[in-house]
Amino acid sequence: MTHPRRIIIDTDPGQDDAVAILLALASPEDLHVLGITAVAGNVPLPLTERNARIIVDLARATVPVYAGCDAPLARKLVTAEHVHGKTGLNGIELPTPVTPLQPQHAVDFLIETLRREPAGTVTLCPLGPLTNIATAFNRAPDIIPRVAEIVLMGGGYFEGGNITPAAEFNIYVDPEAADIVFKSGVPLVVMPLDVTHKALTSRDWVEGMRALGTPVGHAVAAWTDFFERFDTAKYGSEGAPLHDPCVIAYLLEPTLFHGRHINVEIELVSPLTLGMTVADWWRVTKREPNAMFMGGVDRDGFYRLLTERLGRL
Ligand code: RIB
Ligand code: CA
Repeated sequence: MTHPRRIIIDTDPGQDDAVAILLALASPEDLHVLGITAVAGNVPLPLTERNARIIVDLARATVPVYAGCDAPLARKLVTAEHVHGKTGLNGIELPTPVTPLQPQHAVDFLIETLRREPAGTVTLCPLGPLTNIATAFNRAPDIIPRVAEIVLMGGGYFEGGNITPAAEFNIYVDPEAADIVFKSGVPLVVMPLDVTHKALTSRDWVEGMRALGTPVGHAVAAWTDFFERFDTAKYGSEGAPLHDPCVIAYLLEPTLFHGRHINVEIELVSPLTLGMTVADWWRVTKREPNAMFMGGVDRDGFYRLLTERLGRL
């Protein structure tokens, strides 16, 4: 793998997506963000692409942002304003973005980049529904073997679901896209709710972000305050699960996480369990392992990394 690792972040910001993007942009010696591709998910596409540009401005970075698919492959879009607020970045008012939106469609950017960069040098980091990735794979199957790895947030097994009793939001919104990605043969690292629900914020950490006294620290604290109200009410947990930053933290310090290389397939038929990640954690089938499915995280190490890196911005 080249160093810094060349990545494309595919995202539906979302306060937790925002923290993940900031973590990546704070780590240029480790990660070269070739582009950020927005997808419809937490909120509709016009908002997710705008939010992605707001986050790049906040990081004072120069990264191209592309708008991708505004609806799932085969279903009506389901959004999550009840969690993230109407804008998707509720918690703090931020200025209209200066970072421009690239004219190229995100799917064309994904295809062009994967065809141009040497095979095996680009890692895809999906933080939302997998619509952009699956559309690129459908349109240009030749890029599939050129992807180094996909490190994504999505799914759940021991934790069940968060948008239905069986399904996690990113997978549930576009299960057909998830099925394409999970069957693509690209090496997968999956950060399911099983691990993200252990990456809970704490009051001390949030106040530590605020105490940085920087625009980034202030925004992260405000976003987390907003974002956690839903989870603490729902789960009675002390803090909010920072789902998407687990993807970027894995790229920076993989040993913070542990899991199993197992078979994971996506439920596409049953209305009751649609979008479920059927993870063969106990290897009770002969189905080929296709994903490193994470189950645990060193929470203290995770928040140490986040504090150190976000403190740089
Ligand atoms: O279920 C959590 C996931 O759904 C996170 O990526 C969050 O941002 C939302 O997209
Ligand atoms: Ca997300």
